[in-house]
Amino acid sequence: MNLGVLVSGRGSNMAAIVKASADGRLSSRVAVVLSDVAEAPALALARAAGVPAEHVATASARPKLRREDSDRFVGRLRAFDVDLVVLAGFMRILGRPFFEAYPGRILNIHPSLLPDFRGLDPQRRALEAGVRVSGCTVHVVTPRVDEGPILAQASVPVLEGDTVEALSARILAEEHRVYVETIRAIERGDVSLSGGGIDGSLESSRGNA
Ligand code: GRF
Repeated sequence: MNLGVLVSGRGSNMAAIVKASADGRLSSRVAVVLSDVAEAPALALARAAGVPAEHVATASARPKLRREDSDRFVGRLRAFDVDLVVLAGFMRILGRPFFEAYPGRILNIHPSLLPDFRGLDPQRRALEAGVRVSGCTVHVVTPRVDEGPILAQASVPVLEGDTVEALSARILAEEHRVYVETIRAIERGDVSLSGGGIDGSLESSRGNA
């Protein structure tokens, strides 16, 4: 598969996927990295790894991408023949053109055990809620933010005296592992993605292997 990775910031998940592709753990390749933020460190990181990386300027700064801005992203993904869109710290909400172009073919990783702590600052909210276990979730993206079918999860303990930074780092290490493993499972057909997606009625199923 040709992967298109969307980023807004640091890019450590993107880098983990690029590395897994480079060392043969993934047969897919990262065809392009796109960011809504021109100065996102992730863009420089991708270029240094030899991966095409582009800033996609958006007309509106609102969290939800307008149609024309979504169209611009989709146009670049199509230009690089992307089959699977991978959100990795992309801080915008996708507009309808994404779901029309890539129904059931968009993944996201979220640093909580969904459905708990959807939305922003999940690690801080997990600490505030006093949970003893947190983690990360890879899911299919639908128009309802952080609500698509769950493909994989990994849990980590919340330790006595944890800070947001310490918990986030513990979760992040699992993110890098579980995101690569999920893409690998999709490559092998162990996780299949199918369905429409625009109304959130998308189906995903797991194989037994
Ligand atoms: C990760 O914690 C991811 O789960 C969340 O945003 C963060 C991105 O980190 N969606 P990075 O840019 O991949 O380092």
